[in-house]
Amino acid sequence: MTMTLLRGRLLSFRRAPLSLADSESYFYETDGGLLIENGIIAAVGTYTDVKARAPAEVAEIDHRPHLIMPGLIDMHLHFPQMQVIASYAANLLEWLNTYTFPEECRFVESAHAQRIATHFYDELIRHGTTTAVAYCSVHKTSADAYFAEALRRNMRMVGGKVMMDRNAPQGLLDTPQMGYDETRQVIADWHGKGRNHVAITPRFAITSTPAQMEATAALAREFPDLHIQTHLSENHDEIKFTSELYPEAADYTDIYARYGLLGPKSLFGHAIHLSDREADAMSESGAVAVHCPTSNLFLGSGLFPLKALAGRQKSVRIGVATDIGGGSSYSMLRTMDEAYKIQQLLGERLNPLDSYYYMTLGNAEALSLADRIGTLGPGTDADLVVLNAAATPAMALKMEVVKTLSEELFLLQTMGDDRAVAETYVAGVAMKSEL
Ligand code: GUN
Ligand code: ZN
Repeated sequence: MTMTLLRGRLLSFRRAPLSLADSESYFYETDGGLLIENGIIAAVGTYTDVKARAPAEVAEIDHRPHLIMPGLIDMHLHFPQMQVIASYAANLLEWLNTYTFPEECRFVESAHAQRIATHFYDELIRHGTTTAVAYCSVHKTSADAYFAEALRRNMRMVGGKVMMDRNAPQGLLDTPQMGYDETRQVIADWHGKGRNHVAITPRFAITSTPAQMEATAALAREFPDLHIQTHLSENHDEIKFTSELYPEAADYTDIYARYGLLGPKSLFGHAIHLSDREADAMSESGAVAVHCPTSNLFLGSGLFPLKALAGRQKSVRIGVATDIGGGSSYSMLRTMDEAYKIQQLLGERLNPLDSYYYMTLGNAEALSLADRIGTLGPGTDADLVVLNAAATPAMALKMEVVKTLSEELFLLQTMGDDRAVAETYVAGVAMKSEL
């Protein structure tokens, strides 16, 4: 049995904040103690109280004056796109065809997939991300590398072998039967092994024939508890092409609905340009729209109406994500800085409490995993990030005039990146300092 006692300022959300003044929505302890036992949070409270409950010989780590929070969650990114990031393209479809598809072809080689997997997890840990939801490539080798490395590091990860059988290079295509069989094999090999979760992953309607969508529907029926991830309504040319490929569907969202892919475990990347009908359908089914702000700006895809979707009568569940390699940063802090700016342009306010809620408990709720991750609640996994708001000289200077918690959070979001991550704990084990 291993026990560790962390000391520092503790911050964890109880629910979505209603406003910047909503201090009931979170737990904040200025001299906090967090006791970890075998990778699980055993106790949380004031340092004095938790110390009194811990065995005398417990190992202590003092993170004062830093903030200890639940590990950050990234709801959508692409494991095979680490060498696609920062590719110069006019729009989504050009970017996919020119850089992304050719690069993903390399993941047929398991040595390449394993090398990139090592870098992938190093980068997540460096940025304080302890759970991520990723697309692998079409090749089973890529899913094997992805999940093997997650298992090795004991991380709670969601991912899937991409299914795609048209409109891409030959080396990146499966068939309806192959996509079905290999996804089943990935589930058998990896789902529930360590902390791994397999997601059913049709890339998007453009790269799947109706026959493949049928195979996806069969998987969704056979494995109703699994997450489903795909892309939706990211770019106007994409939407137009999609409606030509599925003329019988009422709209883009309806394509997925027709194949039984709209439900509470469904994660739709982007979902920028939804009609009211589509937003209603998302809301009624409990499907999640995953906002990828750095990607949406980088590819010029559009401004995601986060506040409008979350605040409508029939509200849409929201997740937030980097979307590497369409996204331009691995950092969820950088991601929320861009999310903030997008809402500014739309005349809406995304306050600092909103941002930190979304990166932690909000994403955990969107994944239906809030009983395991996203808070500092006793009994949940000890996946943590330790944030230093004075990590750079410019941040330290600004910190001299910061007076409140929300000012500090906003500074971290506006100026912070991996340098502000003092430590990352995965199931109670310090990982960043080991890189
Ligand atoms: N739509 C289909 N595939 C992709 C992808 O890899 N990245 C983004 N941003 N959108 C997509
Ligand atoms: Zn994506």
